[in-house]
Amino acid sequence: MNRVALVTGLSGQDGSYLAEFLLERDYDVHGLVPYGRRELCDPRCQLHYGDLPDASRIAAVFNDVSPDEVYNLGAQSHVRVSFDLPVHTADVTGVGALRVLEAMRQHRDASGRSPRFYQASSSEMFGNAVSPQDESTPFHPLSPYACAKVFAYWQTVNYRDAYELFASNGILFNHESPRRGIEFVTRKVTNAVARIQLGLQDHVALGNLEAKRDWGYAGDYVRAMYLMLQQDEPDDYVVATGETHAVSEFVQLAFAAAGIDDWESYVRIDQRFFRPAEVDLLVGDATKAKAKLGWEPKVSFSDIVTMMVDYDIEFEKSKLP
Ligand code: GDD
Repeated sequence: MNRVALVTGLSGQDGSYLAEFLLERDYDVHGLVPYGRRELCDPRCQLHYGDLPDASRIAAVFNDVSPDEVYNLGAQSHVRVSFDLPVHTADVTGVGALRVLEAMRQHRDASGRSPRFYQASSSEMFGNAVSPQDESTPFHPLSPYACAKVFAYWQTVNYRDAYELFASNGILFNHESPRRGIEFVTRKVTNAVARIQLGLQDHVALGNLEAKRDWGYAGDYVRAMYLMLQQDEPDDYVVATGETHAVSEFVQLAFAAAGIDDWESYVRIDQRFFRPAEVDLLVGDATKAKAKLGWEPKVSFSDIVTMMVDYDIEFEKSKLP
């Protein structure tokens, strides 16, 4: 019998990489997906309409699918947007995780077992904490998004402690790829660089170029999610590269990858893209994930930048008449 995985957020970047990873290991992969965007969903997955605000639908999908493993990747995941939509973000990103945990607590398979649960926790939960951040670093969330993720993190820990469920948090630092949504800074930049190189636009408007992030490759990070649910015991893990780079470095490298050296002449600073509160510096210490899961990042920062720029040049060319 194939193992069965249920993934919320299957239609997003991480959901698509995780689905491919699990399909390669002969899982039956099911997705809980809201009505809308589908282009990243692997056709071998079985899709179930539903969303994190709808507890009765989540319970119904659990009954239909009877998953062995549940990956809660669904969220309103944009930090800047969460300042405009704080209540919606709390409901989807925070209480949404609790709704999935409740469905899990009440669901048993034929032999009385509950599924294993992965919560997509975030390095944003640390805010401006001391660096590098690891599993023992206190949280100090600096956005409605990060507050919602802290809520979901602690609910996951509480369900593990209170009900002895197998529930683990992956505290993932930023992870990117050509499948990243265009509203996040890396993809916004690589897509703009491609369009500038092809003569389709003349500048890109950005916010804070000073912020530093620990950027990894999304395809590497879904491997860590899977490994967390294969352990003997549930636990919480930081997943990061241990390297940090300023947004300006990403921008410079992306322009260089397209053969453009004077990147500053193509960048305009726009206050609209600043946040009411900013996380200045994130850099993770993934020693525990490396030791216990045997996980290592494989794709370097400069390879991620090149991969994304190359993809966006081909993507933009393919749209030309
Ligand atoms: N999005 C965006 N757009 N960010 C900009 C821009 C811009 O035009 N200009 C500068 N930035 C800066 C942001 O202020 C932030 O410091 C940094 O670029 C990264 O922004 P995002 O790519 O939007 O990602 P994030 O770090 O806020 O959050 C991402 O990573 C988290 C993990 O640490 C998201 O994927 C979250 O969902 C995730 O939890």
